[in-house]
Amino acid sequence: MVKVRYLGHSAFQLFGSKGTVLIDPYLTGNPKAPISAENAEADVILVTHAHGDHLGDAIEIAKRNDATIVATFELASFCESEGAKVLDGHFGGVIDAGACKAKIFPAVHSSSMSGHLVSMPSSFVVEIDSKYIYHAGDTALFGDMSLIGEEYNLDVALLPIGGHYTMGIDDAVRAQSRLRAKIVVPMHYNTHDLILADPKEFKGKIENIGLGKCVILKPGQDLDVL
Ligand code: NI
Ligand code: MN
Repeated sequence: MVKVRYLGHSAFQLFGSKGTVLIDPYLTGNPKAPISAENAEADVILVTHAHGDHLGDAIEIAKRNDATIVATFELASFCESEGAKVLDGHFGGVIDAGACKAKIFPAVHSSSMSGHLVSMPSSFVVEIDSKYIYHAGDTALFGDMSLIGEEYNLDVALLPIGGHYTMGIDDAVRAQSRLRAKIVVPMHYNTHDLILADPKEFKGKIENIGLGKCVILKPGQDLDVL
């Protein structure tokens, strides 16, 4: 069994038998974060892109836990220059990080810091204890999500629904129609006023048309993936 804990916004913690995987740990400054960065534990930290609400506290948490940051090459290089242990990779590659394996996929977005592009934005399919969990990062809907759905029998898809900077509800439903995950979990909504969305509307649309199960997690809540 893998435990998936929602930490608000797009941050998740996955608990597996070989360790703990943290994804996009935006805790400091995140009004929905149920824990502080000082209390976050991880063996591996996956970062989809450089925006502050995703890179978040990754570097500090990595250093304190002696955890490894996994990201695309340029973003990993930045984290390394800040003193974190990293494993870099790129689209199409499967990175064996010990506590999990992560295959890096694209995302349709940007990845910048202080107005300068840093890297290509990414998403991940995480293999942990034989479960497959897709974290879409920040992205618009794109057709190649079909390839991910074709390649994997996904147990869980973590999808942004907040709109404005990413897919909104209707495009996230179309994403799930291509991904066909057993369980879909909405993320990247209601953190602030520009990304307001009703997760119950998303759940209704997913389940009414038979696109699997939608689980709405409150920050701090766990989903057990059996
Ligand atoms: Ni972003
Ligand atoms: Mn974001």
